[in-house]
Amino acid sequence: MTTKTATRQSAQDAAQHTNLQEDTADTHYLGQFIPLHYHHNMLKDDNRMSNFKAAIDQVVFDGAKVLELGGGTGVLSCFAAARASKVWCVEFNPDLVAESRRFLALNPDGDKVEVVHADAFEYLPPEPVDVVICEMIHVAMLREKQIEMIENFKQRYLHKFGGPLPVFMPEAVIMAVQPLQQDFNFHGFYAPIILFQRPNIIQTGSIEPAAPQVYSTLDLSQHNTLDIQWDGNVVLTQDCTVNALRFITKNVLAVLQRQGTTIDWLIDYLVLPLAQDITARTGDVLHISFNYRAGASIRSLERSMRASLESTTAD
Ligand SMILES: C[S@@+](CC[C@H](N)C(=O)[O-])C[C@H]1O[C@@H](n2cnc3c(N)ncnc32)[C@H](O)[C@@H]1O
Repeated sequence: MTTKTATRQSAQDAAQHTNLQEDTADTHYLGQFIPLHYHHNMLKDDNRMSNFKAAIDQVVFDGAKVLELGGGTGVLSCFAAARASKVWCVEFNPDLVAESRRFLALNPDGDKVEVVHADAFEYLPPEPVDVVICEMIHVAMLREKQIEMIENFKQRYLHKFGGPLPVFMPEAVIMAVQPLQQDFNFHGFYAPIILFQRPNIIQTGSIEPAAPQVYSTLDLSQHNTLDIQWDGNVVLTQDCTVNALRFITKNVLAVLQRQGTTIDWLIDYLVLPLAQDITARTGDVLHISFNYRAGASIRSLERSMRASLESTTAD
């Protein structure tokens, strides 16, 4: 083990103590209360906004009844109100309840949106709805409660109204993992940190020695457990030092049956450093495993990650 690797390992061990606290931390820590300025950044995120708007325009039909779980600024409810006859927008953060009411009053069709100050784990609309929009989404489905929320909602909704279930937006989530050789030098300062990367741009600090491997596909209309795990092999296509895993999350916001296509939202990638560097050659098989719970902390995934060489090609 090199000095750098040893240091990283002991730092990770030390961090485990802190992480125990984080795992049981309150909802403030795990991304349930998102500060207002993050919401303003979400409004400015063109990748997120344009795909949600396109999906809502396709899925919400004239006269539809819509429910949004976790409405924030009310922006997605407002998009839905362009065609819906009624939108219930549930939000439990009082600052955002006030803010969304203020914004909706400034927008056409905002009067069709009823902002409900409630816990979305408990609220049900007064009548059946056609579409449920829920964006409590973090990369790898960590931190925020999307999966738990939708599972909880489906049970309570079916109990109150019977079937059919409404259409969910997003309809599905596809998650993939990719080994990386990641540059963790910052102007000469070495720090193997958690990184977020914009998708669809060239990441100059990342070498990709294998293609992403899909490890989970969740159809939100079906029953999903919160436990997510993967144990698989990846063949490396170049000589490299694998020192990180990249987690990729694509949300299928809408499935357009007639066009035979989907509207997707690829959120920022998550890059997590491995505890040990792995020096590998072209053709080597890298064994990767990890397990975590949807809605849990990033650290809980990081701690569970294991990577090792299965076999090496002969020289
Ligand atoms: C990622 S933000 C999305 C906000 C908005 N839908 C948008 O797209 O801009 C998630 C929102 O869900 C809210 N939220 C989280 N848990 C909730 C709960 N249990 N009940 C109601 N709202 C909740 C948060 O306060 C936050 O406003």
